[in-house]
Amino acid sequence: MSKTIRLKIDNVEVEVERGKMILDAAEVAGMRIPTLCHDRRLVPFGACRLCVVQQKGKRDLQLACFTPARDGMEIITQSPEIMKSRRLQLQLILLNHPMICPRCEKEGDCALQSLVYEYGVGETQYPWEKIPFPVDHASPLLQRDPNRCILCGRCVRICDEVQGVGELSFTERGIQSSIDTDFNRPLDCEFCGQCLDTCPVASITSDCFDYSAKLWELRETTTPCPYCGCGCLLTLGSKAGEVKRVFSDPMAGPGDGNLCVKGRFGWDFIDHPDRVKTPLIRVNGGFREASWDEAFAFVAAGIEESKAESGPESVGAIVSSRLTNEEYYLLGRLFKEAIGTDQIGLGGHETSAGLNEGLSQTLGIAATTNSIQEIRKADCILLIGVDPAETHPIVRNEIHLAIRKNRAQVVVIGSYDIGLSRSTQISPLSPPSLSLLVKPGMEATLLNDMIRTILKEGLENRGFIEKNTEGIEVLRKRVVSREPGTMKALPEMTKKDLEKAARAMARAKNGMIFIGTGNWSRLSGKEVAIAASNLALVTGHLGKPSSGIFILQDKCNLQGAID
Ligand code: SF4
Ligand code: SF4
Ligand code: SF4
Ligand code: FES
Repeated sequence: MSKTIRLKIDNVEVEVERGKMILDAAEVAGMRIPTLCHDRRLVPFGACRLCVVQQKGKRDLQLACFTPARDGMEIITQSPEIMKSRRLQLQLILLNHPMICPRCEKEGDCALQSLVYEYGVGETQYPWEKIPFPVDHASPLLQRDPNRCILCGRCVRICDEVQGVGELSFTERGIQSSIDTDFNRPLDCEFCGQCLDTCPVASITSDCFDYSAKLWELRETTTPCPYCGCGCLLTLGSKAGEVKRVFSDPMAGPGDGNLCVKGRFGWDFIDHPDRVKTPLIRVNGGFREASWDEAFAFVAAGIEESKAESGPESVGAIVSSRLTNEEYYLLGRLFKEAIGTDQIGLGGHETSAGLNEGLSQTLGIAATTNSIQEIRKADCILLIGVDPAETHPIVRNEIHLAIRKNRAQVVVIGSYDIGLSRSTQISPLSPPSLSLLVKPGMEATLLNDMIRTILKEGLENRGFIEKNTEGIEVLRKRVVSREPGTMKALPEMTKKDLEKAARAMARAKNGMIFIGTGNWSRLSGKEVAIAASNLALVTGHLGKPSSGIFILQDKCNLQGAID
């Protein structure tokens, strides 16, 4: 069966992947269909009914976001009947929605306001005593006003499907329905702001954002998030040089439009009055401000003096892992060529250096092998000495998606268990995570024990090994013939889990291995890298999408710094 289908949208023929919805096909055809409850990151929900379209030869209107496109379909996206239906839906949505656009925070940036204007819908034709709901002003960072809510369910779904938190849900029924926390309490969650981001109206707002600046007044600047190693792209909306709001670009960057609390709200330092914005020179135990020219001259003179007195090795640099590749290149030239030393230090470098050395030895490539968005299609996830929920929130989201959508088997190797294990308990259909907890430093031995189980049980991927590797017999001798490293020291239960983990990795269609780095990582980098890449090679989880090794660097460009 062909993987694609052909259909016509408003007489434009398009070819789309089988399984795509009519809405996706319309996008390919360049036809705009109005939506309110749709977010391409979420499972279709069919709440707003604005996306109605008609199939030629059929009487009923269909939801474009909810109806799979089929071969040979001919879809009409605009007709008097369709427009009438959309207008009616907007009327119904406005039943309990306050008409306060001119003084609303989202004025000019509200999907409902735009559609009401576009479809020429005024005050509702169905007079109705609006039902008042209590407003949540008690939660930090986010405010929720259910009176403005259109019950599209996007906040509920993103919190559950993408974040795996499930803080919000529908409460009550019919016209009394609203979105709330359990027992109507303030939010007690991750404060990622994903619900704020997806809400099409102003039902969720943030006191971190300055809404007095309207969307069209903001100057947008795209920049990588300065926090973790996910390297999400942020769009800073600024006015008169001050950042007013932060957005994510759904079509750019590794995060698929998702951000965590740090990226979305952790930028108040930019305009903080205490931020150092000019060079400071220490004078008599204090600091005085200096111009950049003066500071450069001061540093150059200091380097020259130190070099003349004690040689080039007396000069060194401590470098952040958040610079650009170009800056690292220039720094390298300055120190190696102009000053004559390679004394450049990086925070969290030790584990990474070991990992790089190990990976270079086994794979010939000292880097992560896949992109973040490939994680969601993996069906076995092995986490070594890292809790992505703490260190790499967007990677955590992807792993959560793999668990939810792909029923991925999660295996945790390390000295402590992690919250992600709990995500696997949500559904009896997901395999419960396997936590192989050992003393710090034993991770590589445990990985070798997994390889040992795989080779002993004949579960290795022979075709892959034959085609892509060398030295399997040496590995077999080393791993199978020796005493099992951790096995003897492990409780019976954990031994069984180790064997289960080995089998899961060997049988998985797409297996991914995540290794933690950074100052807090206690892994023996080189040994772990060699054992983990051997495991990936033995099971054939390399060189294809959603299979490979992921080094979770602790800052956004540690890889560039090391290179
Ligand atoms: S801030 Fe994040 S975790 Fe909290 S309710 Fe919104 S989506 Fe859920
Ligand atoms: S709060 Fe916003 S995102 Fe959530 S259901 Fe209401 S309108 Fe939709
Ligand atoms: S996941 Fe990391 S890179 Fe992305 S927004 Fe959060 S801190 Fe920034
Ligand atoms: S976008 Fe299709 S029902 Fe809301």
